[in-house]
Amino acid sequence: MDDILQQLEERRAEARLGGGKQRIAAQHKRGKLTARERIDLLLDEGSFEEFDMFVEHRCSDFGMEKAKIPGDGVVTGWGTINGRVVYLFAKDFTVFGGSLSETHAAKITKVQDMALRNRAPIIGLFDAGGARIQEGVAALGGYGEVFLRNVLASGVVPQISVIMGPCAGGDVYSPAMTDFIFMVKDRSYMFVTGPDVVKTVTNETVTAEQLGGASVHTTKSSIADRAYENDVEALLQMRRLIDFLPSSNTDEAPELPSFDSPDRVEPSLDTLIPANPNQPYDIKELIHKVADEGDFFEIQESFARNIVVGFGRIEGRTIGFIANQPMVLAGVLDSDASRKAARFVRFCDCFDIPLVTFVDVPGFLPGTDQEYGGLIKHGAKLLFAYAEATVPKVTVITRKAYGGAYDVMSSKHIRGDVNYAWPSAEIAVMGPKGAAEILYRSDLGDKEKIAGHIREYEDRFANPFIAAERGYIDEVILPRNTRWRIGRALNMLKKKTQSNPWKKHDNIPL
Ligand code: HXC
Repeated sequence: MDDILQQLEERRAEARLGGGKQRIAAQHKRGKLTARERIDLLLDEGSFEEFDMFVEHRCSDFGMEKAKIPGDGVVTGWGTINGRVVYLFAKDFTVFGGSLSETHAAKITKVQDMALRNRAPIIGLFDAGGARIQEGVAALGGYGEVFLRNVLASGVVPQISVIMGPCAGGDVYSPAMTDFIFMVKDRSYMFVTGPDVVKTVTNETVTAEQLGGASVHTTKSSIADRAYENDVEALLQMRRLIDFLPSSNTDEAPELPSFDSPDRVEPSLDTLIPANPNQPYDIKELIHKVADEGDFFEIQESFARNIVVGFGRIEGRTIGFIANQPMVLAGVLDSDASRKAARFVRFCDCFDIPLVTFVDVPGFLPGTDQEYGGLIKHGAKLLFAYAEATVPKVTVITRKAYGGAYDVMSSKHIRGDVNYAWPSAEIAVMGPKGAAEILYRSDLGDKEKIAGHIREYEDRFANPFIAAERGYIDEVILPRNTRWRIGRALNMLKKKTQSNPWKKHDNIPL
């Protein structure tokens, strides 16, 4: 018996070495941790249970029958994060460059199936060279199986991808169908085809970083939701994110004890809005002052910065915050901002996370650039997402709510549950200047007359009361009371039930 136990330990030790000491050293030299080191950091200490450690590939082409490494380039299993179950797979770059074979794919689909069946989040750590070239179509089939499960799990359990090294070819589409993608700066890149193929096909010369590094995907393409300095920071932030999320669409997000009083009054918010309506202010100050302990996990902070989205808590419960940011492009809604916020709203609605929306929006961004880029359909995505959402929706208009953007930003008309306005709110079809110039076109040559018309429009419409008179605004509140007013509203809405007409699925303007 001792012999058998020893054999088991030896086989385990061999599997844990992956591609061997030399390749592990090379991985470290590049500033990357190994798959198992990453898992140890991500999960609660000692909670990891590995599956399929002895799985090997079955390929016999290109001499592969002589090159077998237990585990076959991916470490899979489950463990806990702050006591809650998560499933995971981590590509092992030291084994065939983490490339995906038929058996490697089967290991991943096994944990995907378990996550879906047992209703827990699944996290993928990527560091790999795509399809196992020696396996050909068997690898392609494997990818297809993984992709299918990504789609079936979408909206049922949270799916998170962390890109920690190369992620190319077939490897990119699984992350693309998960809820969030995070990257590690300077060490990770994602693209469908690499710099060599790009050079051959388009004669363009680019580096991997220029083509698909974290800087590109967090600022230009919006493929990635955030980037971190190194593996350690990325993994610790994933632990923080998981704490905000429910395990599935039938579970509630964990309620964390908060030492922040629900009644906290913030007198400084009374002076957040500058006297000059064209002067910006930082909407994140409002989010930080409303959220428990100022804790805010921002999503896509470097992309479409004219809108801010992310998770916080009020009275210990997870909230999705969406806020126009007057500091960037005056908080205007453009295609990028609309897409970014729409995706976030839909995530929250899938997982029953209430929405709190802060509105200060001068309208949609005019211009050929936006119109040619499909602003109508992109803007409609946000409108659609808010309108179909059945989670509790609390809206606070802090300043401008002009035009179509007023309707879009969780207004009463698209089933906002509780709609507040600060006394500084201006709810109108458009800004006073634009309105006066259209209404009194014949006076355009006379600056004084136009100034008079602008003042007249401001006096009549630049306030929350006309909307409040119609019941579009439930109450005009003092800025200092925003936190406890929202908290009360969310408590009142705790048992909200609302459903949409039966349908196979909707047809959001993609
Ligand atoms: C088999 C692979 C591999 C692959 C890397 N390796 N990629 N083995 N299949 N796809 C192996 C290498 O042979 C090497 O083995 C080890 O992994 C490390 O690779 P290096 O090239 O030495 O590392 P590095 O210089 O860091 O370059 C990493 C890399 C590069 C950029 C990922 O390896 C690369 O370009 N790989 C090929 C990428 C690719 O074209 N994949 C196929 C995409 S097509 P040894 O034994 O020397 O350590 C695809 C289609 C699927 O995915 C579509 C489905 C929809």
